[in-house]
Amino acid sequence: ASRSYSHLRSPSQRPSFGIAFDIDGVILRGNTPIGGSPQALGRLYHDSFGTLKVPYVFLTNGGGVPESKRAFELSKLLGVNILPSQVIQGHTPFKQLVKRFENDLIIAVGKGEPATVMSEYGFKNAFSIDEYASCFDNIDPLAQFKKWTTGHVNQNNTIRSTACTQRVQAAFIVSDSVDWSRDIQVLCDILRTGGLPGREIAHQPSLYFANDDLEYQAVFPSERLGMGAFRIALESIFSSIHPNALEYTSFGKPNPSVFRNAETVLMETVPSSYQSANHVTGGNHVFRTLYMIGDNPSVDIKGAKQAGHPWFSILTRTGVFKGKENHAEHPADLVVDTVEEAVDYIFRKEG
Ligand code: G3P
Ligand code: MG
Repeated sequence: ASRSYSHLRSPSQRPSFGIAFDIDGVILRGNTPIGGSPQALGRLYHDSFGTLKVPYVFLTNGGGVPESKRAFELSKLLGVNILPSQVIQGHTPFKQLVKRFENDLIIAVGKGEPATVMSEYGFKNAFSIDEYASCFDNIDPLAQFKKWTTGHVNQNNTIRSTACTQRVQAAFIVSDSVDWSRDIQVLCDILRTGGLPGREIAHQPSLYFANDDLEYQAVFPSERLGMGAFRIALESIFSSIHPNALEYTSFGKPNPSVFRNAETVLMETVPSSYQSANHVTGGNHVFRTLYMIGDNPSVDIKGAKQAGHPWFSILTRTGVFKGKENHAEHPADLVVDTVEEAVDYIFRKEG
């Protein structure tokens, strides 16, 4: 779909600001829009044909489905036409690791379709931990007590022969683990043996987490344990059964690289016709202000503040943060009740 952008004042001026929206606790709670999010997003378009007025992206630590599918689902829920390029998920930076693990056996963990996510990024030998675990009889001694599982996983012969003969080179925690006990058990196996039971290995396979969120806002009134909590559990257990400390890398907010990447994506959404000579640095569009609208002080606000200019942080009260005043440790540049109020503020300031 082609789109044209314009600044609020004049359709011929390039946009001088952009917006990054957190999803959980700002735009949605579970699958329900909150804080007037459909109305707020609607204001970023010129008309009902979907001509975009303000460059914006979703900058979420969540995930579990490919960006194209998430864009489609968000479009349906929010009533605007969202492009896959506007969706930056916690696992989106895993793409950068394709060259390193392109043909290696890698295991993808988490809710949704973690192996599909990795395959779409270009990893040619990615299997979900469900598929992988189903290749080993009795790998989970508690499986028979797990009433929610049917015990049946669609399995092709490739995974069976691959799992028994090839070493796992990396595990990627793509989204929140559905079955902590099974996943921690199988990950400990993989990290200790490379996935080949009984083998001793000199180097632990690589381990990547899409985010390190201790808690996040879902449908339940109080925060729920996130991927950071799962990481602590795995790390604590691994170091109790293994002489070496767990080696891992976590992606997602608040890492400054996430905000730098969001800036690049926002720049790329501005058509070159707006990139007039006096606003171009090295061929790139320059924003005067980029707004991060988030609900989690230690993730969204800390990240935006660490990223520095041109980021401006706005904290809503619809998610993890529920305080009256600003957050003490990670104070935002602005605190509002809802995302609709945040967009209203931005339009008043920029308009
Ligand atoms: O699992 C999702 C959660 O960790 C955070 O999502 O959209 O608030 O960054 P979000
Ligand atoms: Mg959030």
